[in-house]
Amino acid sequence: MQKPFALLLGYYPAAMLVLGIETSCDETGVALYDTEAGLLEQRLHSQVELHARYGGVVPELASRDHSRRLVPLVESVMADAGMQAGDLDGVAYTAGPGLIGALMVGATFAASYAAAAGLPAVPVHHMEAHLLAPLLEPDPPAFPFVALLVSGGHTLLVDVAGIGRYSVLGTTLDDAAGEAFDKTAKLLELDYPGGPALAALAERGDAAAFDFPRPLTRRPGLDFSFSGLKTAVLVEVRRLREAGAWDEQARADIAASFEAAVVETLVLKARRALEQTGRERLVVAGGVGANRRLREALVTEVDIRRGRAFFPRPAFCTDNGAMIALAGALRLAAAEQEPRILARARWSLEELPAVAA
Ligand code: KG4
Ligand code: ZN
Repeated sequence: MQKPFALLLGYYPAAMLVLGIETSCDETGVALYDTEAGLLEQRLHSQVELHARYGGVVPELASRDHSRRLVPLVESVMADAGMQAGDLDGVAYTAGPGLIGALMVGATFAASYAAAAGLPAVPVHHMEAHLLAPLLEPDPPAFPFVALLVSGGHTLLVDVAGIGRYSVLGTTLDDAAGEAFDKTAKLLELDYPGGPALAALAERGDAAAFDFPRPLTRRPGLDFSFSGLKTAVLVEVRRLREAGAWDEQARADIAASFEAAVVETLVLKARRALEQTGRERLVVAGGVGANRRLREALVTEVDIRRGRAFFPRPAFCTDNGAMIALAGALRLAAAEQEPRILARARWSLEELPAVAA
């Protein structure tokens, strides 16, 4: 039996094989997770090219592409694992939060596939899957921990006492961290999604070149705000252009200074959350969790506190089917039943039922 399951559930559930399906935004993710053997197979189809020329995700195109990709992806995952639908114990799918049309494609497909094979379909909360993603790694965190979830749609600090025992400590009042990366990347004339491209450009820049604001850090509390930071970058870009100083080095310096402002803000709030809750472990997940500088800064911060930071590998920070299969398996092990097909654009983590440990 895999360590995370016994560790987290407090008992050894029966062995289970779960197919996971992720379609909340612009990636179609499919994976097979076995509670004994771990992750067996996974596939991801990114729609980045499809949306690139629009500078952002076009919801209608995302839904259509998920419906085109799902059948071949599931077929190839099952074939390569040498499995048939009858070998599965359940089908997990992202039920929200996310783009409603995209979610409905995945939910309807998963529920139909499950019904045809006489299996339970398990709706999964996308952010719960992100925060449980480090359990896909060989050395998973034990409960309790604080989770910093930083993605394109969310910026959350969550106290995690157990599965489904979540208290949201802080959230963003405006843009999400990933959204701030993407919007700032656009100002720097980088292609969508700009987060990784901005991080690469920042490698050549001076993080001390511009003193961008660290929003909401001087006030107490754990909420975030990133829209002012983006505006500060816009003002600086305009000034540089007008001064005829808009060159490659200026772009790199802005990227590095912006990244430093976001990283410092996230680290400061993570520190406050650890202090406030008295937790020792910090889990970092979501697309921005793939950012190298953020990872390094958080490791240093947690080391100082003699705690430990846990990250999924970068490919499991961004959206993927493996985290959905794993979260679904945990919920299925707790014998949760949901006969309805669920798709919810908005859905708080705090509404989830607790799984007794
Ligand atoms: O978790 P995710 O794949 O999708 C959502 O659920 O939103 O996160 C995507 C976000 C995008 O905003 C992307 O620009 C950002 O994560 N991202 C990064 C990096 N890799 C992805 N941001 C900064 N540095 C990175 N290396
Ligand atoms: Zn996500």
